[in-house]
Amino acid sequence: MFTTATSQSQESEFVPIYEEENVPDYVLPNPLQFENGDPVRTKEDWEKRREELLNLFAEHVYGRVPGGVSDEITHEKRKSVDEFLNGKAVLEEIRIFLTGDQSGTFLDLLIIKPKNQNAKSPAFLTLNFAGNHSIHPSPEISLSESWMRISSSDRKAGLVVDNKATEKARGDRTSRWPVEKIIDSGVALATFYYGDVDPDFDDDFENGIQGHYEKPAPDEWGSISAWAWGAQRAMDYLVSDPDIDAEKIGLLGHSRLGKTSLWAGAQDERFALVISNNSGCGGAALSRRRFGESVLRINTSFPHWFCDNFTKYNDNESELPVDQHELISLIAPRLVYVASAEEDQWADPRGEFLSAFHAGPVYELLGLAPLPQSEPPAVNEPIGENIRYHIRTGKHDVTEFDWHQYIQALKSLK
Ligand code: GCU
Repeated sequence: MFTTATSQSQESEFVPIYEEENVPDYVLPNPLQFENGDPVRTKEDWEKRREELLNLFAEHVYGRVPGGVSDEITHEKRKSVDEFLNGKAVLEEIRIFLTGDQSGTFLDLLIIKPKNQNAKSPAFLTLNFAGNHSIHPSPEISLSESWMRISSSDRKAGLVVDNKATEKARGDRTSRWPVEKIIDSGVALATFYYGDVDPDFDDDFENGIQGHYEKPAPDEWGSISAWAWGAQRAMDYLVSDPDIDAEKIGLLGHSRLGKTSLWAGAQDERFALVISNNSGCGGAALSRRRFGESVLRINTSFPHWFCDNFTKYNDNESELPVDQHELISLIAPRLVYVASAEEDQWADPRGEFLSAFHAGPVYELLGLAPLPQSEPPAVNEPIGENIRYHIRTGKHDVTEFDWHQYIQALKSLK
């Protein structure tokens, strides 16, 4: 999405780096060193460094949530279906009001829970790209009435008309959502459409949650920060659900929503597991490598995703006070899973791996094992315990292979 002639010309000049020998030399900032140069030696030091890093990411990358924004939510249960998936599951739809009253922005949380469990269920909280109705064809799931991006294939297929989903869009993304497999594993699935919180286009923050407040300052929330805040508000509800084990909730996002998961999971320690699926630039991939999508390119194509301060680092990554391995390290000592795809070179699979690897020293300081190797594993061979990583065959996507690993990771939580 381009707003100015300048950004269009930057766009046309952009040539991505796709060869390792063209990756510039770089020195990564040290997560275990304070900004004043002092070393981080103890767990207590790390708690302080953690705050410092969170502030740096907020100020320079994603943007902080402005002070006046209240985290108070109210909710309304809009639907409950006792016999979902041939009686295996219960479906609930909860509307979460994000501005304290019922006239403002809301998100619709769909929760599908396994039945006949003797104990509370672990759960995934995931953001979705195309509306709750897209994850499964069941007409029980309410069709989203929110603004939708239109891809040319969606337009051709009539899935989205005038930026609204049509009945044809039901179940359109089922390949990414093995709902029965999740339920059969005894795991609940909660999901919401990211565009409920902030529609994904460069609207100068007229719409969505930011539209209720002053225009964001250069260090205040872009869309990723707003989506991450929305995930935290969905979490506020989920931890209060008596059927869900609040200690075992994993946050999962793909691509731009993987960037979102990492930022939400870095800030919010209630997430016991944080999963980045093919999150790439501004997610798990190291910015300083400039491989595939770069900071300049992402800020040009998606000027609303990050805070305005992030544009200072366009073609200037070495000046960034942080890099993305430090975002991964903010999830320590919780379980973090970084996943890449072999054909997803735009997202820099090697850079995603290296982030997970270089978060290792923080896990070690906290008494946990880092990734066991400094080079990426073979395809389709997941590695790691506290920090997990895989690169699978195939393209930018969420597949059964990915979900299989994520379910195992969630079920490994003690
Ligand atoms: C684009 C963008 C990526 C993003 C992806 C997605 O490819 O350049 O940064 O991850 O969209 O969200 O699907």
